Amino acid sequence: MSKVIFDCDPGLDDAIALLLLCQSEYEILGVTTVAGNHRIEVTTKNALDLLSFYGRADIPVAKGAERPLIQPLTIADFVHGPNGLGEVILPEADRKPEAVHAVEWMKNTLMASTEKITLIAIGPLTNIGLLLSMYPEVKEQIKEISIMGGSTSFGNISPVAEANVGHDPEAAQIVFSSGVPIRMSGLNLTFQMFIQDREIEEIEALSTDVAKAAAKFLWYHAAFAKRMGLEVDQMHDTCAVVSLMEPEAFTGRMAKVTVDTGWGPGRGQTIADFRALEEERNVFIYESVERDRIIDLVQSAIARA
Ligand code: RIB
Ligand code: CA
Repeated sequence: MSKVIFDCDPGLDDAIALLLLCQSEYEILGVTTVAGNHRIEVTTKNALDLLSFYGRADIPVAKGAERPLIQPLTIADFVHGPNGLGEVILPEADRKPEAVHAVEWMKNTLMASTEKITLIAIGPLTNIGLLLSMYPEVKEQIKEISIMGGSTSFGNISPVAEANVGHDPEAAQIVFSSGVPIRMSGLNLTFQMFIQDREIEEIEALSTDVAKAAAKFLWYHAAFAKRMGLEVDQMHDTCAVVSLMEPEAFTGRMAKVTVDTGWGPGRGQTIADFRALEEERNVFIYESVERDRIIDLVQSAIARA
């Protein structure tokens, strides 16, 4: 069974992505948290509470970076709610995070493994950027990094910057230029991976505690999208998980990706070069998804939870 480490900033769409991963064939070695959607104390509490709620309190949680490498932290509580989970109150986990920082925990776990590990990163890339900078020897232990981040089209926190990359462009540049194989689920893809109201209603009708909570996460996230003039909820973080579970439902191309780390209007943009030298193209950029097929996968995974 393939091993993964899940780096996240829960976060409503993070919560759905974690639920799907818990229902997958992957062996989850641990969950690491980063500030982004909310402050590190909140994203870490949410990770602990979500894992307990999903029946996976066996999975260790390690608390990571409390702010981006260079620019100050700006949280997205206007999207994810004051508690980061759409005001859904989960039972409090009765355990604490690991004693070491997420970067140390990832280094120790990667270097102790007898097989390569897949990283899934669905928040700002601060932890991963620190990891690769402080301990480059871990690169040999990483099979690939599946990230929700960037975009080859429009941005969301600026006309060109997607939130995870835009929150910490320097960390993202370290990751994209590391030479480690990356699978990038950017906004150009995730806006195709929307869930319709009736499909959320179908999840709600499953009537289990997990399904009802998942539906609340989705409704709250959808409400923000609708306030922004969109019709439906985009399942951003889900893409970084289901593209590993069901790769044949996706298409894409290899590219070299450079992050604009300047301080002008392009800051945080991911610039894809599909014509770079083959050896420089380390990023598989997803470009399309069979949405209906993935909705079926999501609904059946939630039904199993
Ligand atoms: O741009 C969307 C990303 O930013 C998602 O990961 C969401 O959870 C937020 O972190
Ligand atoms: Ca996220």
